[in-house]
Amino acid sequence: MNFFIFIIMSSTISSLFLLSFGDEPTEGFTEITLREENFELQKPYNIPLEKRYSFENGTHRLWVYADDKPHDPNSPTQPRTEIRIQGLDYSSGIWQFEGCAFVPNGTSGATILQIHGASHGATTIILRIYNGAMRYYSGQIFVTDLYDKWFKVNLIHNVDEGKVTVFIDGKQVFETKDQGPGDLHFKCGVYAAPANISYYMESRWKDIKIYKKVY
Ligand SMILES: *[C@@H]1O[C@H](CO)[C@@H](O)[C@H](O)[C@H]1NC(C)=O
Ligand SMILES: *[C@@H]1O[C@H](CO)[C@@H](O)[C@H](O)[C@H]1NC(C)=O
Ligand SMILES: *[C@@H]1O[C@H](CO)[C@@H](O)[C@H](O)[C@H]1NC(C)=O
Repeated sequence: MNFFIFIIMSSTISSLFLLSFGDEPTEGFTEITLREENFELQKPYNIPLEKRYSFENGTHRLWVYADDKPHDPNSPTQPRTEIRIQGLDYSSGIWQFEGCAFVPNGTSGATILQIHGASHGATTIILRIYNGAMRYYSGQIFVTDLYDKWFKVNLIHNVDEGKVTVFIDGKQVFETKDQGPGDLHFKCGVYAAPANISYYMESRWKDIKIYKKVY
């Protein structure tokens, strides 16, 4: 190979490398290998799992109805079918959830991803879909038009700096303060909001990964 061409090629390759990996949310993070026991399913307590959950071709499908029971007979909470990431609870450091999500048109008033635990309140962050838009709880909208398509979500929790950051399709869309440290863990699926919920709620998830920043 001509040496000159080689120089051009290698500089092109390195700039491509920088372009595609330079601002990845996972850059600098280490992936934690997930096993089946890291996925705990929560569903209405009186209904068999297969009536609210399926796992086919690598895709978790989770659904729930507005009049379903809570996950526990003693819980006053709203109905849910959720994957609770188990065995990776954290209380410090920098953690990241990554997954590809799909929300069918019609699902509204459903939390599809949350960080459970905080020193104030039950949760650090809740990402809810209302009418195809993603909101911080029932508040700020940061992406619209999400129905019937796959989108990638990265959620970073920097507990040490008290900060949570949301990326959709690799682009940062939201950042806020957390609610203080606690017994923290990630959950995805569908959890009914307190108000304005559709009767049927569903989200699908694939390529779920957990990362940690190791200094
Ligand atoms: C899973 O893959 C099989 C084989 O490609 C296909 O027939 C089936 O429809 C798929 N199921 C879903 C739920 O996508
Ligand atoms: C969702 O469904 C409603 C009712 O069928 C329809 O009017 C609307 O255009 C759909 N939205 C999208 C984004 O497909
Ligand atoms: C529910 O919807 C009503 C009417 O659209 C609106 O006024 C109210 O603020 C909503 N409530 C919540 C908690 O989003």
